[in-house]
Amino acid sequence: MRRHSATCGRKNPSAVVQASHVSHEKPSEAASAHGEARPLSAGKSGPLSGSVRVPGDKSISHRALIFGALSTGTTRIRGLLEAEDVINTARAVTALGAIAEKSGDEWTVKGRGVGGLSQPAGPLDFGNSGTGTRLMMGVVAGHGIAVRMTGDASLSRRPMRRVLGPLKQMGLEIVEDGKETLPLTVRGTQHLVPIVYELPVPSAQVKSAILIAGLHAAGETAVIEKEPTRDHTERMLKYFGAGVRTEVKDGKTHITVTGHAEMEGRDVTVPGDPSSAAFLACAALLVPGSDIIIEGVLVNETRTGLYTTLTEMGGDVTFLNERDEGGEPIADIRVRSSKLKGVRVPAHRAPSMIDEYPVLACVAAFASGDTVMAGLAELKVKESDRLAATADGLSVNGIAASITGDTLVVHGTGKVPGGGTVATHLDHRIAMAFLTMGLASEKPVTVDDTAMIATSFPEFRGLMERLGATYG
Ligand code: S3P
Repeated sequence: MRRHSATCGRKNPSAVVQASHVSHEKPSEAASAHGEARPLSAGKSGPLSGSVRVPGDKSISHRALIFGALSTGTTRIRGLLEAEDVINTARAVTALGAIAEKSGDEWTVKGRGVGGLSQPAGPLDFGNSGTGTRLMMGVVAGHGIAVRMTGDASLSRRPMRRVLGPLKQMGLEIVEDGKETLPLTVRGTQHLVPIVYELPVPSAQVKSAILIAGLHAAGETAVIEKEPTRDHTERMLKYFGAGVRTEVKDGKTHITVTGHAEMEGRDVTVPGDPSSAAFLACAALLVPGSDIIIEGVLVNETRTGLYTTLTEMGGDVTFLNERDEGGEPIADIRVRSSKLKGVRVPAHRAPSMIDEYPVLACVAAFASGDTVMAGLAELKVKESDRLAATADGLSVNGIAASITGDTLVVHGTGKVPGGGTVATHLDHRIAMAFLTMGLASEKPVTVDDTAMIATSFPEFRGLMERLGATYG
């Protein structure tokens, strides 16, 4: 994409979100909200225009709450994502003795210091969130407490061995030994041992869980990654005062954290989530005559693979007014509708756009020619099997897509027939991807449920409609 630093003149207020005061609420609204299906259709839309802000980045929001809880003093967070996944993490840290609450337009976390959290009174419910669960497993590992962790049907199917394996090597105990999915009970220890661990899968969640546990261990814990994954944990640990260093040796990244860390509460401003902005950006590319700006979006290069790919497809995507905010690069992203061509997306790019493949596949359906997306094994273990759900959703809407191993090929013809109903499998990103596709398809596209969208992007429909999209 093109990058320059001109300031854009248009301004719109950021989305207004209902705040929840976590400490007095029931464990999970997700469970009840997700009880009844709420289908929705997206039909052909007029041009999208205007400037909007997307809510705060989900990855950074989880981490701000967790590092605030592990620091001494108060952490103030502006722009925290107030979606179910993050609210469940706020509840979890509160149940462990750090108080996370909203006051005015910011959140505060009164931390307990590394190793200072306490036994919760009941189970911790993480709803739909793999990130919340896995990062908090790293937290529990370093405390002499036993914690029951639960989640919804989607989360209860997701693999936890990838985190439990290394944490067990450090000293975590799984009470129901051998069990590798939620619900399960884990018992931590104040005597964790440091490890050096090479990630078998490119996962920022696994990396982060080990580094968080390492804060509590005696000595240095190192994680080695062959392919770089999102680095918010490393950046934020440094910002909170922990000892972290990153070195590249023999083409691999070694991240080392010093144990028995001391961290101090800090002020955090959460930038806009590029994974949420993706739906708006893709909609603007697809709907003829569109021209939008998404303000204040995180453009850390471990997260911008989609934007690189869209540009290679011929998309008119520009990063404006690039700047730094709270240790992360941000920009305003301008997107204008474009004629697109199919491309080959290299496997090494997957970690930097892992959550964006469903919407990229929907965009590829409108391109001319094939788009080949390689290295997608991790998509099979997200909130749903996203590889299968994406291919099925395309095929019920008249687009040929094939899966060979971990490669997805979408045969773009420039036009999408639409008219199908997509099974979302409790997956927010499948729902939003196809509600984006329907805005430019010949016949409306229906998704069987939208309730899960609240786990990451409750403002999705409102923001799309503000830009001019029509749903019904
Ligand atoms: C996340 C990492 C990614 C991503 C998830 C958030 C994080 O998962 O899919 O939505 O905040 O660390 P993996 O690291 O397991 O691929």
